Order: sequence, then C-alpha cells, then structure tokens
Amino acid sequence: MRSTNLLVAGLVAAVHSFTFVFAAEDPRITPAPSPTVDADEIARRQVAGAPGTPILSTLHYAFTDLPEQVYPFQVLRGPQFGFNRCNDTTLGPTSNCQTLIFNSPDDFCLWGSPDTNGLIGNVEAKVVAYCTKPTHGTRVIPPGAITGLQWTKTPGYIQVRGFINNPGIGLDPSDQGGELDPHGADLQGNPLGGVVYSNGTTDSDGHTLAQVFNWNTFVGGGQFCFKACYNTIDSPDYCENRYDLVGCDYNMPGNVQNGTFTECDGDVQDVVGTYTSAGQSTSQSNAFYNF
Ligand SMILES: *[C@@H]1O[C@H](CO)[C@@H](O)[C@H](O)[C@H]1NC(C)=O
Ligand SMILES: *[C@@H]1O[C@H](CO)[C@@H](O)[C@H](O)[C@H]1NC(C)=O
Ligand SMILES: *[C@@H]1O[C@H](CO)[C@@H](O)[C@H](O)[C@H]1NC(C)=O
Repeated sequence: MRSTNLLVAGLVAAVHSFTFVFAAEDPRITPAPSPTVDADEIARRQVAGAPGTPILSTLHYAFTDLPEQVYPFQVLRGPQFGFNRCNDTTLGPTSNCQTLIFNSPDDFCLWGSPDTNGLIGNVEAKVVAYCTKPTHGTRVIPPGAITGLQWTKTPGYIQVRGFINNPGIGLDPSDQGGELDPHGADLQGNPLGGVVYSNGTTDSDGHTLAQVFNWNTFVGGGQFCFKACYNTIDSPDYCENRYDLVGCDYNMPGNVQNGTFTECDGDVQDVVGTYTSAGQSTSQSNAFYNF
C-alpha cells in the first residue's frame, strides 16, 4: 500500500517537471542530477518485507532449532541487540537473552531493560527477558518483586496481569512504561529479534515449547500485562496493538489485585476497543506462587 502511494507520488512529480521543461521557450538539456543519497537514506527508504528486511513475526523456529540471532540483519534498526539461543551459559544478571518463555503462572518471563534504571521509551528495541525461574538462560526477576498476578487461560490466548516493582525488570522507578509487540512501524519488533515460546498454549502438546507468533505486552508504572495469542486463531486478532498508548486496563481487562495470585480459565475478551458487560467466566484463587 505504502509503496503504491509512493509510486503514484513519484509519477505526479515526474509529470509536473516534464510539463515545466516543455513549457520553457528554449529548452536546454540539463545534466542528470548526481545522486546524493547515502546509505542511511537508502536504509530509510526501505520498507520491511522488501528484500533483506525480513518481517520479525514471520520468522518461525522450533525452540530447539533457534539460531544465535533470529534478526542478524543490518537493515533499518537491525541487527538485534541480544541473542536467542539461551541456556545455562547465558543465565545471570547481564544476560541479553531475547527469547521469552511464557509457560505458567510460576514460570514466565517479561521484557525488561538491559540497562539499570532504563526507560521503556529508550530501550524498547533492546529489552531482554527477565524470568521467574533461573532455568531459561536469562536474567531473573528477584523474589518479592511481583506482588500480585492473575493468569487467565482462554480459548484464544493466555493473558497475565500483575504488579511488579519497576527495578525488578531493570526499569527506572518513575517509568510509566509502554507497549511492546513483534511488529512496530518497520515490522522488526520491539524488542527487535524478540521471540516468545510457551508450553501452555493450544499450539503446544503441553510439554514442547511452541513459538507464539503474535503477542503484546505493557510493562512499567508498577504493573505488567502480557497476552500470548494462539497461532491457530487468525481472526479476530486478540493481540491487536492498535491502542498502545492506553495501557493494560484498556487492552487486557482483568480483575487482578495487588497482593493476590490467581489462576483462572476465562472467556475471550471482546476485541480491544469493544465492550459489553460480560466478564471473566470462572475464577479460582491460588496464593501459593513463590516469587
Ligand atoms: C548456549 O548458548 C550459547 C550462547 O547463546 C550458544 O553459543 C551455545 O551454542 C548454546 N549451547 C547449546 C548447547 O545450545
Ligand atoms: C514446560 O516447560 C518448562 C521449561 O521450559 C518445564 O519446566 C515444564 O516441565 C514444562 N511443562 C510441561 C507440562 O512439560
Ligand atoms: C503493590 O503492593 C506493593 C506491596 O504492598 C506496593 O509496594 C506497591 O506499591 C503496590 N503497587 C501498586 C501499583 O500499587
């Protein structure tokens, strides 16, 4: 769509200058303009999906077959900051693992800042995984940082809502945060090269980590929410990220409370931006998660 518009604009411009040249009384051949376009400008003119600018959300790998980096491409904002093959050798407080695991209420990760006191607005392209367990080759969320959560499994996606102190995921205490997803204006994702895997979605047999192609999340302001959509459901898009300035309450409704840990089955929500008065269907409270 965008390239068609550019083409039309280009044609209009060409026709105008053509007319102008012919209207001149004594036409002279002017030298062809010398190209002044530098490499940065060429990079800016590229659009994601053009040759050499892969679309992050279309890069699919078995977990056991992940390359060191899924986005090593030196195009637009690339290559990615960290890496995707994460294991015991990469575990720890300086890990730049960008593979996020989203299994269950006591075994999941969030994107956080690689720099101390990061602001999401500054680090969104290079956020790294912070996990509740020290088993995914990532940074670890400190015990006690998460003070409440609600994990909801629906027929269309798994969603978590929760409370966390910002520094638990490298964020400045004052950062109100922002939205992250595998698209972005240039379709390279935030984080660029970030991939998500789960053994809790319907795309998994319950054990194997299956890639989650479509997800979105908000972190910051002492809260987090993360939605992992099932690959088999194309429509509606429950992970739509059109309303990325308005946060968890609007995009991922739930009734999470600070100080409680709950796990529920739920109905799918209305498509974001549509509301009825129907709420979550069933709910069961478990206060045993040990973060
Ligand atoms: C462990 O991770 C490192 C760093 O990403 C990678 O080079 C290495 O191949 C991994 N090892 C295994 C067994 O996957
Ligand atoms: C899901 O994956 C995690 C680690 O990635 C593993 O510890 C857990 O046992 C798996 N769950 C099942 C039901 O296999
Ligand atoms: C949640 O509760 C914790 C511990 O009581 C508190 O420190 C934190 O400020 C609360 N978070 C929010 C967003 O109210």
